[in-house]
Amino acid sequence: MADAPTVTDQPASDAIRRHDPHSRGFASDNYAGAHPEVLTALALANGGHQSSYGADAYTAHLQEVFRRHFGPAAEVFPVFNGTGANVISLQAVTERWGGVICAETAHINTDECGAPERVGGLKLLTVPTPDGKLTPELIDRQAFGFTDEHRAQPQVVAITQSTELGTCYTPEELRAICDHAHDLGMAVHLDGARIANAAAFLDVPLARFTTEAGVDILSFGGTKNGLLFGECVVVLSPDRVRGLPYLRKETMQLASKMRFVSVQFEALLTGDLWLRGARHANAMAGRLEAALRTVDGVRVQRPVQANAVFAVLPREVTERLQKRYRFYVWDERTGEVRWMCAYDTTEDDIDGFAEAIAEELRAYAAQHDRSGVTGPA
Ligand SMILES: Cc1ncc(COP(=O)(O)O)c(C=O)c1O
Repeated sequence: MADAPTVTDQPASDAIRRHDPHSRGFASDNYAGAHPEVLTALALANGGHQSSYGADAYTAHLQEVFRRHFGPAAEVFPVFNGTGANVISLQAVTERWGGVICAETAHINTDECGAPERVGGLKLLTVPTPDGKLTPELIDRQAFGFTDEHRAQPQVVAITQSTELGTCYTPEELRAICDHAHDLGMAVHLDGARIANAAAFLDVPLARFTTEAGVDILSFGGTKNGLLFGECVVVLSPDRVRGLPYLRKETMQLASKMRFVSVQFEALLTGDLWLRGARHANAMAGRLEAALRTVDGVRVQRPVQANAVFAVLPREVTERLQKRYRFYVWDERTGEVRWMCAYDTTEDDIDGFAEAIAEELRAYAAQHDRSGVTGPA
C-alpha cells in the first residue's frame, strides 16, 4: 500500500512558475502575492487534522486577536471574500424589506455584480458624493419614507473606509454618521477592504474609528494587505445583528478548512504586519503623487490619503503606458485613471513608473508639437 503524502513533501521543481515574480503594476493591491509571513503561518497551520467549519484552534484564537483590536464585544466570522463579507453583513442588520444607504461609488453598488440586491435581496439607496464619503446631510437625501410601505425601508448606512476614491473618514466624521444613523433607527456597516490603509493614514488604533465611533458591523479586508485570500465579518454591536452563522453558510461563505483563513489573519494582526504593509502602500502612493507634481501633462485629481492615486492624462498616453504597466481607467468618460500601490510596491517601482509617465508625456507633447495639435491635458 502506498504511503500517505507528508506535509513536508515539496514540489519537484519550479517548472510550473508562469509569471515573473519581480514584475509589479498599479492595477490593484489584490494583484500582489501573499506576504511571506502569511505563507509561513499557513505552513505552520498545516499538517494533522483539525475540526472543520471554524471549530479549530486557529479560529478560536482569532476571537482574541480581533478583541484586542476592536474591544471585548467583538465577534469575528472569517469568510472567503469581500463581496461575501459585505452581503452577509448587510443582511444581518436588515429585514427583507430593508434598504441600504450608500455612496454611488460604493463597491457594493459598482463592483459586486448586484450581489447585495440579488443575493442579499436588498435595495441600494445611493447618493452621489464628491469624494466617496457620506455625511449626515448626504444620508438625509435617502433617509426618508420610514413607515411608508411603498418604499424599501432604510435600515443601514454603508460606508467604505478607506473609500473607493482613496479618501479617509476621520473618527469624528464617522462618529457623526453613526450618531445620525442610530438616531434614525439605522445600523452602520463599514466596508473595510482597505481598513488598514485608513488606520495607517489616520495614525490611530482600529477601534478609534470603528467601535468607538459607533460602527455596528464591518468587513475586515485581508486580501489587499498580504493575505492569500480571506476577509472577516466583525460584529461590534451584537444586539443589532441577527443570524450571521446561518447567513454565512446560506451565502456559501463558510469555509470548511477555516483554519487556513484564520491563521492568515492571526499572522496579519498579532504583530504589526497589517500596519507595516498599509503604511508602506500609503507611502508609495504619496511618493508617486510627489513625483508627479513636477511632471507636465498629468493632474492628480484627488487627495492622496490611502494607497490610491487618481489622475487625468491624455488618453493616448494612458494607452501607451498600459502597454508597459497594468492599471485601470477609472472613469471612461473623463479618462481618469487609478494607480494602486500595494504592500510590496517598491520605491524603484514608483520611480520607474513616474519616469515612464514623464517619458510618455514628453513623447506625446513632441508628437503633438510637430503636428501642431494640442491635446487635452
Ligand atoms: C472597497 C472594496 N470593498 C470590497 C471589495 C471586495 O472584493 P472581493 O469580493 O473581490 O474580495 C473590494 C475589492 O476590490 C473593494 O475594493
